[in-house]
Amino acid sequence: MRDLVYYVAVSIDGYIADPAGGFDAFLVEGDHASVVFDEYADALPAHAHAALGIEPPRTRFDTVIMGWNTLTPALDIGIASPYPHLRQIVASRHPRDVDPAITLTDDPLAMARSLKQEDGLDVWLCGGGELAGTLLPEIDHLVLKRNPIVFGSGISIFGNVPYEPRAFALTGTRSFESGVVIEEYVSRGGA
Ligand SMILES: NC(=O)c1ccc[n+]([C@@H]2O[C@H](COP(=O)([O-])OP(=O)(O)OC[C@H]3O[C@@H](n4cnc5c(N)ncnc54)[C@H](OP(=O)(O)O)[C@@H]3O)[C@@H](O)[C@H]2O)c1
Repeated sequence: MRDLVYYVAVSIDGYIADPAGGFDAFLVEGDHASVVFDEYADALPAHAHAALGIEPPRTRFDTVIMGWNTLTPALDIGIASPYPHLRQIVASRHPRDVDPAITLTDDPLAMARSLKQEDGLDVWLCGGGELAGTLLPEIDHLVLKRNPIVFGSGISIFGNVPYEPRAFALTGTRSFESGVVIEEYVSRGGA
C-alpha cells in the first residue's frame, strides 16, 4: 500500500499555471529550493538532474501520474520521457504515440486505485488540474508550494471540479525567506 501525493506549485489564489499553461511566474530560486532539491528530487525531470549533476534519489517516489497536457510541454521541446527514473503513467482519452517508457491510461481513477494497492514508494500526482480533479477522491496527501503571487486567472489546482467540499488536515507549514510557503495536508478520508 502506498499513498497518492499531489505535490505542486500553486499561486496564492489556487492556480498551477497561467491561462496559456505557462508557469514562469513561479519562483525557481530562493531558500525554498532546498525542499525541491533535497526532499523532492525524485520529482525533478531527468534534464534537471543532469544540469545539477545529481542522481535521482528514488527515496520519495517511484511512480508519477500526469495528464496529457502536463506531458506536452516536455514533448514540445523534444523530451519524450521526462522522468525515466520513475514509472510514468499518462492519462489520455485518445490513442497517443508515446515513448515505450510511458504507460497510457484512459481510466486514471482505476489506475490510481490499483497503484495504491501495490508495495513501493509513494505515487506522485504531478498534475495538471483536470487530472487532479479526477483523482481528488484518491489523493492522500497534498504538498503545496504556495508562491507569493496572485494569478487572477489560469489553470486551477483541481480544474473545473464541481463544488463538493472534502476535508484535509494541515500537517505542516514551512515559510521561507523567498515568500514561498510549503503547506502539507493529509486527507481526512471524505467530505
Ligand atoms: N504548477 C505545477 O507544479 C504544475 C504541475 C503540473 C502541471 N502544471 C500545469 O498544468 C497544466 C495542465 O493542466 P490541465 O488541467 O490543462 O491538464 P492535465 O490534467 O495535465 O491534462 C488534461 C488531459 O489529460 C487527460 N485526462 C485528464 N483527466 C482524464 C480522465 N479522467 N480520463 C482520461 N484522460 C484524462 C486528457 O487528455 P486527452 O486530451 O489526451 O484525452 C485531458 O485533456 C500545464 O500547463 C502544466 O504546465 C503545473
